[in-house]
Amino acid sequence: MQCNTFLNYKRKWFFSFLPLGTLLLYLISQLDRPHEIDEELAWESAVCKNYWEYQHSSVLNKSKNTYLITWYQMSSYIRWREDAVARDFKQCKYSNCMLSLCPHSANNSDAVIFHGRNIPKTLTYKRPPGQVWIFAEDESPLTYDYDGQHWRSENWRHAFNWTMTYDKSKTDIYLPSGELWPKKVTDRKNFYQIAKNKSKTAIIISSHCTTESLRMEYVKELQKYIDVDVLGTCGREWHCGKAWIHDDCFAILNKSYKFYLAFENALCRGYRTEKFFENFNYDIVMVARAGLGKRDIIEPRDAYISASDYSSPQQLGIYLKQLSENPMEYAELLQQKSNYYYPGFGEFYQRALCDICERMNNQDKYRRTITDLVKHVDVEHSCKKPKDVEPEPWSIFSWFNKKW
Ligand SMILES: *[C@@H]1O[C@H](CO)[C@@H](O)[C@H](O)[C@H]1NC(C)=O
Ligand SMILES: *[C@@H]1O[C@H](CO)[C@@H](O)[C@H](O)[C@H]1NC(C)=O
Ligand SMILES: *[C@@H]1O[C@H](CO)[C@@H](O)[C@H](O)[C@H]1NC(C)=O
Ligand SMILES: *[C@@H]1O[C@H](CO)[C@@H](O)[C@H](O)[C@H]1NC(C)=O
Ligand SMILES: *[C@@H]1O[C@H](CO)[C@@H](O)[C@H](O)[C@H]1NC(C)=O
Repeated sequence: MQCNTFLNYKRKWFFSFLPLGTLLLYLISQLDRPHEIDEELAWESAVCKNYWEYQHSSVLNKSKNTYLITWYQMSSYIRWREDAVARDFKQCKYSNCMLSLCPHSANNSDAVIFHGRNIPKTLTYKRPPGQVWIFAEDESPLTYDYDGQHWRSENWRHAFNWTMTYDKSKTDIYLPSGELWPKKVTDRKNFYQIAKNKSKTAIIISSHCTTESLRMEYVKELQKYIDVDVLGTCGREWHCGKAWIHDDCFAILNKSYKFYLAFENALCRGYRTEKFFENFNYDIVMVARAGLGKRDIIEPRDAYISASDYSSPQQLGIYLKQLSENPMEYAELLQQKSNYYYPGFGEFYQRALCDICERMNNQDKYRRTITDLVKHVDVEHSCKKPKDVEPEPWSIFSWFNKKW
């Protein structure tokens, strides 16, 4: 099952290239496959070890009214966050649920969570009567529309009970990449001095260069007005942190840079990059470019600058330039944002788990079948093309790179 997923991914990638050096690319794709498969297998044997242990414990004894919930393939987004993976139901109002990350427990589960992009072509077991199916995705529909293919098929599109996504406007179980919470105790820092000490203007760290949101095109426009250092695949090398754990090299956000450009790879309703949240707690002013428009924004508004308030990168660039030359005004923004913090993804994942367990205990209240998942996802109306920047002239590179 796991191997299949990767093959499918490669196959798509491979076909979009067909007219070009097919053989060479095929060989390259063969080269990087073993690593991914090894990682998958290692993960599976680790999580299934636990599962076989559970099976021999009394926890799975159904007479005790415990609901077993299985992740058929946990998304790497969650998997790579230790703070999330360690969560369970102990602190929930309904705590009689158990989570298994081992796909082999799916046939024996009361609910199964499927990761949209990685839904397999066919299921390896027969759905037991009454088993609840949850469709989970952390990326924008543009991504799983592109990367995944099976969720749209007849086998799957009429079968799910609930969704678990970031799109509050329609999801059953709300799981955002983050939220900003008010601080109980405010910081006493010399924000003016912090502002004075910063010598650089803006930074963007990103790994995908050709995006639906025309992120790099937008950055190029901004660079006519302010300095933007581009780090990651689309710019200078950046090897800091590991699997989303930030290390000391992120200190440059505290010390050197004034603005962090947390720009989305796609402009979709409710979709905000985890980078916005995961870099929020540094002493840096965040600039977001996300969502469907002016009303689809991250709350609270006074915690950051939103590109949606500016009609063009030029307007935003002029504002950022003026701010960067005015430490007093800039320090006020730092002060304002310091009233909020990002508590870590684990909090939101925990809330979603508790929500699932409450639903399992009250299935009649939440009973539902999504009659058509494709209509429900509604890619066309969930995302928009950017209007504030023009695409680069068509090039073969932008075509085959087209991916989040
Ligand atoms: C499951 O529960 C039943 C009744 O409460 C009990 O007789 C049985 O021994 C339990 N099985 C395990 C494996 O704990
Ligand atoms: C579920 O599948 C596993 C193998 O993957 C098997 O050992 C087990 O007996 C099955 N359980 C049920 C309830 O069908
Ligand atoms: C600003 O820089 C000076 C000189 O490097 C340093 O002593 C001071 O601690 C810095 N202040 C803040 C608030 O970072
Ligand atoms: C950056 O500043 C924040 C907030 O003051 C602090 O908690 C954090 O430890 C600093 N991080 C680094 C890498 O210097
Ligand atoms: C889940 O969907 C199935 C298939 O449509 C249905 O039989 C079942 O009642 C649903 N359960 C819940 C809790 O919505």
